[in-house]
Amino acid sequence: MGDEHDPGRFLRACRRQPVDRTPVWFMRQAGRSLPEYRRARGNGDILEAATHPELVTELTLQPLRRYAVDAAILFSDIMVPLRAIGCPVRIVPDVGPVLDHPLGGAADIERLRPLEPEADIPSVIEAVTLVTRALEGRGIPLIGFAGAPFTVACYLVEGKPSRTFARVKSLMHTEPSTWQILADRLADIACAFLSAQVRAGARAVQLFDSWAGWLTPADYERFVLPVTARVLSELRALDVPTILFGVGTGELLALMASAGPDVVGIDWRVPIDVARSRLGANTAVQGNLDPAICLAPWEVVAAETRRVLQSAGTAPGHIFNLGHGVLPDTDPGILAAVADLVHQEGRSGASVAERDGIPAEGPDGAGGHQREARP
Ligand code: CP3
Repeated sequence: MGDEHDPGRFLRACRRQPVDRTPVWFMRQAGRSLPEYRRARGNGDILEAATHPELVTELTLQPLRRYAVDAAILFSDIMVPLRAIGCPVRIVPDVGPVLDHPLGGAADIERLRPLEPEADIPSVIEAVTLVTRALEGRGIPLIGFAGAPFTVACYLVEGKPSRTFARVKSLMHTEPSTWQILADRLADIACAFLSAQVRAGARAVQLFDSWAGWLTPADYERFVLPVTARVLSELRALDVPTILFGVGTGELLALMASAGPDVVGIDWRVPIDVARSRLGANTAVQGNLDPAICLAPWEVVAAETRRVLQSAGTAPGHIFNLGHGVLPDTDPGILAAVADLVHQEGRSGASVAERDGIPAEGPDGAGGHQREARP
């Protein structure tokens, strides 16, 4: 407790308020890179695992025992609510979400019914309740999440992970009204899924639009931005910070900020200072260490971590994260050291520390450079 887990550091940074240290968490901090995860996980795919609240709670809490992260994220998947409304999606090992009969025309889309959280995903609600209870008093909020309409549509329409997204793009341009119905239904599902997580105790939500960066800015603006803005505006009533994340979104950042999230999550392709100028002063930024860097020797990881912190500067509203999920071969010791280094040296929005007379380089005046964190 105490300084290292100052309550609300993550939530304050989301709202661009001053923090004592830069908050940090890692996308996919739970899961495949942790040996204790592989021991606890059992059989069954992630969609099945999501129906066991005690297991989900344990897997969500595991990374908090290793890393001094400032937020937990629910162990789940973006396809969980789709399976829950009867969509025949399955997870193929080493592939991802697969549908034997991808959604084609309007008739398929009509079958996507609304999500009724209490009836359809009671185990997710139960897991959020259990995690929230376990985190009580620790100052570490739980982040709920959902897939954004476009990214979920990619799987439903392509039928499997894609490199070109040809079918979903073709649907948008060939049958724009069908696309709109699909996007609206998925938006309603995301809203219901996220609202239920917040009602059960999640304190922030992240909307994963992982594949938005494969669209042209014009297509993003026409086909994806309005429905994304609607989801974010419906979430505003929940009064929790919202994070909108995507990969390869350098050219979309101003549009994404205009959708109205509190935070935009970026990958490693755009330096944070560039991202900040594109996002504008009213949007916080989350990122953006290249997850592949974490496989390099610690000296390299430390230098790249410092580069991210420097690029983020001292303006409020930076949450340190990777640019995408933790890679399976990552040494957890490296991530533990990254979290410590971010806390030692990260000072974005450091006016609280300055007000309290703590010099920007750290309380010992020597800066963290001599206190090298090692895995
Ligand atoms: O990576 C992202 O961009 C985050 C958004 C996202 C998630 N799932 C969240 C998630 C996306 C795009 C998916 C789709 C998906 N679902 C994929 C990617 C396929 C592709 O196109 O490349 C995969 C492989 C799945 C199925 C899945 N989800 C598996 C096999 C796992 C690993 C855990 C397990 O026990 O099998 C997940 C977990 C998952 N999906 C998490 C999140 C935030 C949380 C768990 C973790 O931290 O590993």
